[in-house]
Amino acid sequence: MLVPSLRLCVAALCLFASSTAVPVPDDSANVLDNPLNWQFQGASLSVARSRIAAASAGHYALFGGGYLQNETYTDIVDIYHRTTNKWSTAHLSSTRSSVSAGSVGDRYPVTTVDVYDTSNDSWSTLQLTVPRASPKIINLGSQTAIVGGLSGDLQYLSSAVDFIDHDLKITAAKLDVNYPQYGFAAGDRSGTGLFTGGYENQKPGERFNDFQASNQTSILKASGKPEISRGPLFPDPRWGAGSAAANGVFVFGGGHKFTETDTVVSDRVDVFSLKTNSWCSPVSLSTARDYPVTHAIGDYIVFVDGTVLTKDFDVFDTRTLKFVKNDKHKPALYTHRTDAGSTVVDDCLLIIAGGDVYQGRNVTGSVELFNACKH
Ligand SMILES: *[C@@H]1O[C@H](CO)[C@@H](O)[C@H](O)[C@H]1NC(C)=O
Ligand SMILES: *[C@@H]1O[C@H](CO)[C@@H](O)[C@H](O)[C@H]1NC(C)=O
Ligand SMILES: *[C@@H]1O[C@H](CO)[C@@H](O)[C@H](O)[C@H]1NC(C)=O
Ligand SMILES: *[C@@H]1O[C@H](CO)[C@@H](O)[C@H](O)[C@H]1NC(C)=O
Repeated sequence: MLVPSLRLCVAALCLFASSTAVPVPDDSANVLDNPLNWQFQGASLSVARSRIAAASAGHYALFGGGYLQNETYTDIVDIYHRTTNKWSTAHLSSTRSSVSAGSVGDRYPVTTVDVYDTSNDSWSTLQLTVPRASPKIINLGSQTAIVGGLSGDLQYLSSAVDFIDHDLKITAAKLDVNYPQYGFAAGDRSGTGLFTGGYENQKPGERFNDFQASNQTSILKASGKPEISRGPLFPDPRWGAGSAAANGVFVFGGGHKFTETDTVVSDRVDVFSLKTNSWCSPVSLSTARDYPVTHAIGDYIVFVDGTVLTKDFDVFDTRTLKFVKNDKHKPALYTHRTDAGSTVVDDCLLIIAGGDVYQGRNVTGSVELFNACKH
């Protein structure tokens, strides 16, 4: 029996930014084509912390909650607005902050989601259909899917899915899987999402769970009525990969496997093409990475950080299915960290905030912004 890694964000469930103006997804139009020209800028959070939940909508990025140096949780939210380059702060709902401050910590399943409405700068809460902790949040353009997570029952992993539309109406659904699964997730803003890999509980409902790397794949569609179907099996089951999608190309990189004696960190990249409905593995990361920070920026998928020492980005181009040459070490992180909060604003500005530094001994408040925006 394997024990699942719980390096999961305590506040992942609590934050969801909504924007009533639905941006028309044109990923490439707004992005500088040469990653060498992406501009770096530094900033600071109002309070240094790690395990931050990050979300974005409209021109806003939100960094909510987190774990402080004195080993308590905070309910603070740092809010950044891209076009004015201004920071402000707010607080998560009190229910949520007291729950996250409780001794049950990361594992406590809740139903409450804090919603920030960017159109009028106001907060509300939303109730999910099934309580769970640390679900995956997939941006599908016109809808957001909140997929799976850790449940409080003997299944241990939840198969529940909540699709949330722009009026914050919830459509409840379920993954069609053989075993409950905690997978990697990626969403293409045109309305398709993938949930695959990660781990599954092969003895759900029994006293002793059996967690194994999973090959199950679910395809989520939300361009019309939400739908979930089974997709081709994940070719190299493993835990801890980074995932993101652009142009109907879903990219999963890094992660780890368990052997009898060891944990082996991977440099493998698996690519699913919506057009061909199949997997391929055209290239590898420059280095093995576990839990890399992974995001789509225009046509690119960037991998950075994770449990590695390099500060360099691996930038994958979804048009050529290759990595962009990065022999000039640009873009690169300034401070290597783990358990940061990260998000992309307007499809073109990557923000990496907070996290643990000095081998996890200290939390940081430093923020790194990588600006690929043309405007
Ligand atoms: C932990 O640190 C925060 C921020 O500095 C402070 O507000 C809070 O009172 C501290 N809590 C404890 C238990 O020391
Ligand atoms: C903000 O806008 C949302 C959606 O239009 C609305 O439901 C909410 O009541 C508004 N909040 C405030 C404080 O005006
Ligand atoms: C997929 O995973 C299941 C459960 O572990 C296993 O029985 C099956 O052989 C796997 N299929 C492939 C093609 O690897
Ligand atoms: C880590 O945090 C402790 C406690 O706040 C502080 O005393 C120490 O100087 C920090 N270490 C580094 C290397 O910043």
